Amino acid sequence: MTETASNTSALFTPLEIKSLKLRNRFAMAPMTRAFSPGGVPGTDVAEYYRRRAAGGTSLIITEGTLIPDPAAGPNPRVPHIYGEDSLAGWKGVVDAVHTEGSVIIPQLWHLGVERGDDPQLNPDVTTVSPSGIALDGTPLGKAFTSADLDDLIQHWVDAAANAKSVGFDGVELHGAHGYLLDEFFWATTNVRDDRFGGSLEARTRFPAEVVAAIRSEVGDDFAIVYRYSQWKSGNYDARIAHTPQELERVLTPLVDAGVDVFHPSTRRHWIPEFPELDGVEGQRGLAGWTKTITGLPTITVGSVGLDKEFGSAFGDDAASAITGLDPLLEQFARGEFDIVAVGRALLSDPEWVDKVEHDRLDERVAFSRDHLAALT
Ligand SMILES: Cc1cc2nc3c(=O)[nH]c(=O)nc-3n(C[C@H](O)[C@H](O)[C@H](O)COP(=O)(O)O)c2cc1C
Repeated sequence: MTETASNTSALFTPLEIKSLKLRNRFAMAPMTRAFSPGGVPGTDVAEYYRRRAAGGTSLIITEGTLIPDPAAGPNPRVPHIYGEDSLAGWKGVVDAVHTEGSVIIPQLWHLGVERGDDPQLNPDVTTVSPSGIALDGTPLGKAFTSADLDDLIQHWVDAAANAKSVGFDGVELHGAHGYLLDEFFWATTNVRDDRFGGSLEARTRFPAEVVAAIRSEVGDDFAIVYRYSQWKSGNYDARIAHTPQELERVLTPLVDAGVDVFHPSTRRHWIPEFPELDGVEGQRGLAGWTKTITGLPTITVGSVGLDKEFGSAFGDDAASAITGLDPLLEQFARGEFDIVAVGRALLSDPEWVDKVEHDRLDERVAFSRDHLAALT
């Protein structure tokens, strides 16, 4: 391990992006924990996030929290971002994180077809998605009508307004991993023949309209972060953009709609996105490409400090050993990202960021499956 406090210091510089005032470049990646019975995050959830803030993480991105559509998700232990009790719970979380000098944004989540056909939450409500097609290409639930889509935009807007009302510092839209907004992007799950289906631009249109509607609700200064991914749950080879030109066609409408920060989700942050290209372009990761194309700040993510990718976390061989941070530091020096999100390493070690800052890298706690079992 070659890192020392002196060469990680570049990541301990402040950054201000509208309402996000960060003391360093470290974010907690959004991670579903399902410890909010009835959709209400309790004091244990507040304490869990507070500990990561106290341990040096500047930006907390919460686990996915369901927007106010009864078909948003299947799990009754996933938090909601609507309803008096849930919002009071979130206010407790926000206040706890602010006490430690960090900022916090909720990840707004609608699972679309990934809600499945056997939801425990609102089982009488049919699962809905762009075309009623599951990620494996088989029929599931029903497709949105035009009227449904008007309601759906309002649910996203209400979620963002609720977040702002309890003091969150911005919002992140979950547009990745094959969930609702990503289902619009992806040709496999979007075969609509209206203005929301067809070309790449048409498939980006609904997510862009959601962003624009949120922007007009929350005002200019409230930061909107957009998470997207090439890969889908259960399909790591899936791609929405095969070239930088296609990526530009997907991202530009989102920029025009009002996104402030992109959070491209990758499983290994150092992997080049278009390795067939020559020279520096052939080395650039997805966050680097996103920054180059949009000119906006980006968040990188994926196996930071760990030797296995996150999919393993849910299997028997979840244990992941600690690795160095050189690839991350090199990418930062090349200007490929502005913020780095850390997932599993922060589950196992709430003080991970402090340890990186203060030359205590060898004291980091490795990740094991036990760290998923409890909310500590
Ligand atoms: C337990 C767990 C839950 C997750 N839940 C979410 C989620 O709710 N939303 C999301 O966008 N990503 C989710 N992810 C993916 C993480 O945000 C992150 O991208 C991934 O773990 C890679 O980062 P890491 O290698 O540092 O763990 C989850 C990952 C884990 C391990």
